[in-house]
Amino acid sequence: MPRPLNVGLVGGGRGAFIAQPHQKAIHFDGTRRVVAGALFPDSKIALEEAAKWPYPITGYGSYDEMIGAQKTLPEDQKLDYILIVTPNHVHFDPAMKAIKAGIPVFCEKPLTVNLKEANALVRAVRARNIPFGVAHTYLGHWTSRLSRYIVRAGLLGEVRWVDSYYLQGWLATKVEATGAQGAVWRTNPKTAGGSGCGGDIGTHALMQLRYVTGLEVAQVSAQLETFVEGRLLDDHFTIYCKLSNGSKALVRATQIAIGHKNDLGIEINGTKGTLRWRQEDPECLTIHLSNQPDRVYWRGAVTPGDGFLPKDVPASLMAEPTIPSGHPEAFHDAFARLHRCFEEDVRKYQAGAAFKCDGAKYANIEDGWTGIAFIDACVKSSKKKGAWTTMPKPI
Ligand SMILES: NC(=O)c1ccc[n+]([C@@H]2O[C@H](COP(=O)([O-])OP(=O)(O)OC[C@H]3O[C@@H](n4cnc5c(N)ncnc54)[C@H](O)[C@@H]3O)[C@@H](O)[C@H]2O)c1
Repeated sequence: MPRPLNVGLVGGGRGAFIAQPHQKAIHFDGTRRVVAGALFPDSKIALEEAAKWPYPITGYGSYDEMIGAQKTLPEDQKLDYILIVTPNHVHFDPAMKAIKAGIPVFCEKPLTVNLKEANALVRAVRARNIPFGVAHTYLGHWTSRLSRYIVRAGLLGEVRWVDSYYLQGWLATKVEATGAQGAVWRTNPKTAGGSGCGGDIGTHALMQLRYVTGLEVAQVSAQLETFVEGRLLDDHFTIYCKLSNGSKALVRATQIAIGHKNDLGIEINGTKGTLRWRQEDPECLTIHLSNQPDRVYWRGAVTPGDGFLPKDVPASLMAEPTIPSGHPEAFHDAFARLHRCFEEDVRKYQAGAAFKCDGAKYANIEDGWTGIAFIDACVKSSKKKGAWTTMPKPI
């Protein structure tokens, strides 16, 4: 029986948000556990926060110390991967140091704050052939996986148009002026990167489009707008895209749409039909075909060979662990599915076996890079009043 994988957190102290869903998802299967953390930038507070963690972990004063300590630890106590859940400007440095130390990395999005850092990470990951995941949560819903299959298998015909969106309303006022941690760093170009709303949630909308359709954005015409006075970064992000198959898409995100909470969704119009999916209702997707009743596919209640889905829906998709339909899965389950798939690759890497970090099960380093390249192109286009701008060439 292999021992559970040891995970070390970078970030997570003092009311941090996303470290919590991750740490729960890490523990979902009993085959991974959080054993260590560098939880805060100040070393004294980092150790205090580790001592207050709800179960025993080894606290470190900094991620440098945590990564450096690995050399001398007994095999069964070494970290098998690190999880980076810090603000965007503290992704690159710990990720690079972990890769150089041979430790796989699961990193929050957006990958980095600029393209130069993203390029360097891609090169480092490729040079060492090490598992690297990017936490695009919504790919982890089983219905996202089914959407991917439906669209890529051509069941909607040729893709003509995609509307991929992420709508929020929580930054409709100057929340950052209240000192709220998550709002302060998200609205500061030094800590968030070149785009606020686009980097934070536009990258999720882009990833959902790419994951489900398999299409790439070739060119963008972007409008990055700031509605809240005095804010330094965009809080409204509207991108008209030309896609790699010649079709078009809208990738849009906003943080000022009062009433929307985490309204990420996608609609794909093909020559034969339409697919609709929303993460706030993630247990089902809807298919619309001309002159036919709508079909609603629920996770756990899908029957291949039903007149729309062929008999040969991949067995691996049908066999992904889920609970019976009607017992709702949601955000934590999606995260758990990503960590579960990442674990498989980490174990293969450790055994010296081939692993396929190809983006089919979780976003990989190239996906992270593409998010940053997209932001780079959008910022450039928006500065030129929406001029069509070509995406940077993949490295
Ligand atoms: N995948 C998703 O759905 C999702 C959702 C929310 C946030 N995020 C991403 O997760 C990251 C964190 O976001 P958040 O909302 O949890 O932020 P947060 O402000 O709530 O938490 C950030 C944590 O990082 C810690 N930190 C900062 N600098 C550090 C350093 N040098 N060393 C150690 N710890 C440090 C802070 O103390 C805090 O614990 C961001 O990149 C964000 O874009 C992703």
